[in-house]
Amino acid sequence: MENKLTVECLDCGYQAPYMPGSLSCKQCGSQWRQARYDYSNLGRIMPALLPHRPFNLWRYRELLPIYEYNPSLSLGEGGTPLIHAANLGMMLGCPNIYIKDERQGPTNSFKDRQAAVGIATLKEAGINEAVLASTGNVAIAYSAYAARAGIKLWAFLTSSVPAEKMREVAIYGTQVVKVTATYDEAKKLAAEFANQRNLFLESGPRTLSSIEAMKTLAFEIAEQLTDLLGPDHRDTNDALLPWRVPDWYFQSVSGGLGPLGVQKGFDELVDLGLTQERPAMAIIQAEGCSPMVVAWKKGHSTAEPVRSPRTHITTLATGDPGRTYTMLYQHMVESGKGLFESVPDEETFRTIHVLAKMEGLSVEPAAAVAFAGLIRLVRAGKIRPDDLIVVNCTGHTMPVETSVLGDNWARNVSLPVEPAALTPQEGLLEALNQVTADRYPRILVVDDFSDARRLIRRILQSQGDYTIFEAASGRDAIQLAGQELPDLIILDLMMPEIDGFAVLDALKANPETSSIPVIVVTAKELTPEETERLRGQIQSLLQKGEFMNDEFIDEITSLIN
Ligand SMILES: Cc1ncc(COP(=O)(O)O)c(C=O)c1O
Ligand SMILES: [Zn+2]
Repeated sequence: MENKLTVECLDCGYQAPYMPGSLSCKQCGSQWRQARYDYSNLGRIMPALLPHRPFNLWRYRELLPIYEYNPSLSLGEGGTPLIHAANLGMMLGCPNIYIKDERQGPTNSFKDRQAAVGIATLKEAGINEAVLASTGNVAIAYSAYAARAGIKLWAFLTSSVPAEKMREVAIYGTQVVKVTATYDEAKKLAAEFANQRNLFLESGPRTLSSIEAMKTLAFEIAEQLTDLLGPDHRDTNDALLPWRVPDWYFQSVSGGLGPLGVQKGFDELVDLGLTQERPAMAIIQAEGCSPMVVAWKKGHSTAEPVRSPRTHITTLATGDPGRTYTMLYQHMVESGKGLFESVPDEETFRTIHVLAKMEGLSVEPAAAVAFAGLIRLVRAGKIRPDDLIVVNCTGHTMPVETSVLGDNWARNVSLPVEPAALTPQEGLLEALNQVTADRYPRILVVDDFSDARRLIRRILQSQGDYTIFEAASGRDAIQLAGQELPDLIILDLMMPEIDGFAVLDALKANPETSSIPVIVVTAKELTPEETERLRGQIQSLLQKGEFMNDEFIDEITSLIN
């Protein structure tokens, strides 16, 4: 068997040829090891190999710790789309946001990569039974691949994992062990169990295949950005090089395996000579369990464990990130870019609605954390408007959606039980009336730019249930206001012919519309005379681009309720 990779110990530097199934350094016993490849050779051959391979994770197999690619174990992992988030970009004033849609993996999370490569390496090593601890998604992904490969799996899950996720683990035939304790404690228990029975233990960043699997995200992102935007012509004459990488890579983080692997991927692209730059990593945690962020903000290279996580997002409840944090920290300090940030759960839950209603992406809370972090950092001015941003959309909502929808998310229709009195036609009409019976707050949006109207509509729809009317001119605005008598008017000032000031005069002159609250949105600085003209006529004045701040939504809610 040709030795395609070497394993280097991060503690003593000892290098050994890769052996499937070997778990620690032969010299010092450390489990912290890293795979190294012949980058100069691979950098030459990979660009010629890739165009002939399907777009999935195995197209980079020369850079993965397997000797023989076994397609019969595959479920179609990797190769997820990179989606331009035009609406979110418009809302945030950052047009270059792309979403790596990892929900589209075989079990709907980015952990499919880890499981696909992990199970393939176990199979090569002849291992038939394995143990892991998980907050849900790792167990689901590993279970699917283990089932396919005929490997027996034990999954230690904290009791806070939603029952639906636990059942999904069980349906693949995995033995579920529910642990009523924190995730860190469940990990310890799983480790003891594996040790006692001499079974293989999947241990995140210390499992070589896990880091190697996650780095394929970096490879795919660079290839996809290059396809979409062309190579990054900095200082080469080569028409195909260097590949393009984002300025920022965003990811929600629990234990930190994902960013550690992705970071290694971007480093390897440089080693291979395919790229020149590395992205800044934005590592986002849930505020109630954010040991990395706390340590980072204090400038510490080690993280103080959080003993009792206080977040509803149990998927991200790793209290003790251990050495993974230190490795991420050191990389950030050495590269001089990147950051750690946290977001409160409410912001994350609000972001789920924004993504679903503006981009058509239903994501699970753990994935939304990264997007909530993006929104927060853009607002804080940490991201430049022209930055190229990729967000890892790590998982789908499905089993956890109960916590984010609240009540009254469907309209109930009951067809009459006694059809005798009504004809079937009447019965149906009666039922349909029930569908349209409740009244949502009605808002008239006035702006001559259709993009601006569309943006306000999307923002409103992402934040609640409203009936929205649009007027593209002052004339239409006056007419629609009189006809529909909305609960609120959002009015642009600068419009040709009848401008916002004239619309206001007309509204105030009509007793039917004079008391409708008005929020004025303007792109320009007002003169003192203009400000004076608005005094007493409107409820608030917003600068364009300020829409996404919470005051806008709070203001609307307070005016119509
Ligand atoms: C959907 C989702 N997002 C993010 C994470 C964080 O992953 P990690 O910190 O292990 O890379 C997880 C971990 O299970 C997850 O399931
Ligand atoms: Zn060693």
